[in-house]
This record gives sequence, structure tokens and C-alpha cells, in this order.
Amino acid sequence: MARVPDVRGFNNVVFFTGAGMSAESGVPTYRGKGGIWKEYDYDNCACQEAFDRDPEYVWEFHNYRRELVSKCQPNDGHRWIARCERELAGPNKRVTVITQNIDGLHQAAGSETVIELHGSLWKLRCCVCDWRAEDLSAPLRELRCPQCEEAGRADVYKRPDIVWFGDSLANSNLVAVQEALTRCDLLISIGTSAVVYPAAQMPLIAKRGGALLVEVNPEETPLSDIYDVAIRGTATKALAAMCGGLDEAAS
Ligand code: OAD
Repeated sequence: MARVPDVRGFNNVVFFTGAGMSAESGVPTYRGKGGIWKEYDYDNCACQEAFDRDPEYVWEFHNYRRELVSKCQPNDGHRWIARCERELAGPNKRVTVITQNIDGLHQAAGSETVIELHGSLWKLRCCVCDWRAEDLSAPLRELRCPQCEEAGRADVYKRPDIVWFGDSLANSNLVAVQEALTRCDLLISIGTSAVVYPAAQMPLIAKRGGALLVEVNPEETPLSDIYDVAIRGTATKALAAMCGGLDEAAS
């Protein structure tokens, strides 16, 4: 394995995660073997136009994902990251997770400072009124917006609060990401193919600020060249190597 940095030597650590982070929990990635976009066409199930055309089908896809993810548990990698935040964060030290994942597994493992760049499978909103909610049911059975129904609009569907293809990222998230990446001195990117923008290029903000950049991925990505250290292994193994020092500190 490559020279592995010890997270304890840094003050502001950002974990930048993608679908590979949850692969060892049993959540399928999007691309590659067994990838979601190999089986489903995102033009039909993950964009506003598809939702406007056929909300029932888009909900069928998202309910399939809710059911699948609800059976998955955080893996040791998620737990190492949460433990880093608990044990390292203090007045002058911060640990932030910036994730492209919508599965909620970082929070389920105990991480508190999590920026969900692409939204969440468990958050809902309405496209017509200001109704919003969090709902962990799987499948979600009540698909209509209750506030619209009360106002006499019975045909308005709840929408998953996910950044679909063609949607913009939330401004509040962009501000939080900029802030976290500008001050970070170690960025660890884990399990992302680095092909979806603008997320893919975010680690460059940390690089410009002088942070050490580590890429954890069994495979090379189009942005591998920007990283100082490449760990060609899985999320759980790499995180055990980088965070294992926390055990020594405790003993
Ligand atoms: P991808 O499915 O594109 O990439 C997953 C990456 O994880 C690949 O590079 C794999 O090599 C790597 N990988 C697989 N198993 C791993 C493991 N055990 N440990 C570490 N790495 C592993 O997923 P993302 O890059 O997250 O957007 O995809 C980005 C966005 O595209 C997603 O957020 C989603 C998707 O369309 C939306 O839904 C808006």
C-alpha cells in the first residue's frame, strides 16, 4: 500500500465520499459492474422531466432504492470516519464529511458534520408548495403532498429531495463546501469515479489551499493525477490504515 498518512497529524480533515464508500455495506455503486445506471436509465428515473412525465415510475425506482438501502448497515469505514470526528474534533480541529451519497449511512454511523451534496433518499419536498419532510419508511406509500391536498390540489406528488441530473446543487451546501475545503489540510477522497461535476472537481479547492490529497479507490479515476497519495484498496481497509492510530491513542 502507498505511504499512508495518519489522520491524527492534521487539524482540518475532510472526507469526500462517493458510492464506493457504501459498496461494502451492500449499496450498489452507479457505474462499473452491477452499477445502478447499467440497469436503469437515469433519463427515465432521475431527472425532473421524468418526474413530470411519470411520477409513479420515478417513485417505483426510488422506493426500490429506499427498500434496498434500509436493509444496509454502515460499514467499518463509515464507523472509522465517525470516530475520527468524535475523537479528533476540538476547538482547533475539525472533521467534515462531504458526501455525494444519498443513503444516510454516514449519519447512521454517528457522523454529525455531513454535507449531503446530492441530497438524501430520506428527505422529501414538494415542487408546488413549501412542504418538506424527512421520512424513513421503505417503501414510501403516501406519495401525494399533504399540504397541496389540503389546499384542494389532490394530484401533486411528493418529490425525493435529491439532486437529479440537470438540477443545481443547493447554494447553502456550496458555501459550506467552499468553507470546509478552503481551511482543510487533509482531504481524503473515497470511492468516487470523479466523473460527475461539479462534485468531481471540488477536491481541487483543497489542493489550491495546500492540503494533502489522498485518493482511496481500487481503480484509477480521471482525476487521479491531482492526488498526492493513491491508495488502491477498499474504503474499509484504507480507513483502518489511516485511522488505526486512534486505537493506539486510546490504549
Ligand atoms: P460511481 O458509481 O460513479 O463510482 C464509484 C467508485 O467507487 C468507482 O470509482 C469504484 O472504483 C469505487 N469503489 C468501488 N468499490 C469500492 C470500495 N469498496 N472502496 C472504495 N472505492 C470503491 O459513484 P460516484 O462517484 O459516487 O449522483 O457517483 C457520483 C454521482 O453519480 C452520484 O452521486 C450519483 C450518480 O449519478 C446523483 O444521483 C445525483
